[in-house]
Amino acid sequence: MEPINRRNFMKSVAGTAALAALEGGAARAADTGLVFLSTWAHGKPANERAAEIFKGGGSLLDAIEKGINVPESDPAVTSVGYGGLPNAEGVVELDAAIMDGTRHRAGSVCNLHMIKNPISVARLVMEKTRHTTLAGEGAFRFALKMGFEPQTLLTPESLRKWEEWKVNPKHETFWLDAEHHDTIGMVANDGKGHVLSGCSTSGLAFKIPGRVGDSPLVGCGVYADDNVGAASATGDGDVMTNYCTSVSIIHAMARGASPQEACLELLRHMVKTDPKNREAQVGVVAINTQGEIGAACINSRARLKYALWRNGESQLLDSVMLI
Ligand code: GLY
Repeated sequence: MEPINRRNFMKSVAGTAALAALEGGAARAADTGLVFLSTWAHGKPANERAAEIFKGGGSLLDAIEKGINVPESDPAVTSVGYGGLPNAEGVVELDAAIMDGTRHRAGSVCNLHMIKNPISVARLVMEKTRHTTLAGEGAFRFALKMGFEPQTLLTPESLRKWEEWKVNPKHETFWLDAEHHDTIGMVANDGKGHVLSGCSTSGLAFKIPGRVGDSPLVGCGVYADDNVGAASATGDGDVMTNYCTSVSIIHAMARGASPQEACLELLRHMVKTDPKNREAQVGVVAINTQGEIGAACINSRARLKYALWRNGESQLLDSVMLI
């Protein structure tokens, strides 16, 4: 009998599976092509920047971070980063998280003031500390230590909207976002089965100070696992947090559902457990290790548009809506 050496071992099916298990990951599929999938119209320039970074030699982590920096730094996007609508006291409070599917490791920040790129701070929490989440003053001081420059995040436009909200006797509606765009959630696959998830938001406009939504919570706004895929979420974080949206989608995919089926399964569950959720603004995106994608939403008043970058083509598409 031929002695088992590495080459013979690798030739056997059992050997390939065993090695994949030993190396802590699923067997890598053939190259399925680079994919970036993001929420809303502001996801399109974010995907394009991410693809540029990756193709220029950056890592997938660099790509997601720099891609999400685009809407964070754009004052016209009033739900993320600089120019994001403030809390009830007129202070912009930002939340973000990033999760790496290879290391099964995330970093996140909540209630971060005066730093326009919270996703970059979240990445450093993941890379430079043993913690996963930093909040408020501690997150701010960490950002300063990492060299971020503090700046005012209120723009003349976001200040005007806050002042209008304050004097509006019906301001209990909270969502003044007529364009129904929201948080950026981005998932990516490098084409070889490595996945990542990132999410950044200024949260619910005119929220009670200190409120944290789904975006910076691991399992809610982000989840990534190179054995299965990655997911992210957008919408009413006060509703979505109760469903651990991103990890629920990944668990459904691990049981065999496609990303699209897994997204819809979660939304059906949300409506089944509480029919009021049919009116909620809820949107989710997911990708698996083969590069298949899913995007779905509940609320017909705010159909989730998603941005898809694949094979050099950048598109803005309508998600599937739960009927
Ligand atoms: N999904 C963003 C938030 O509710 O904060």
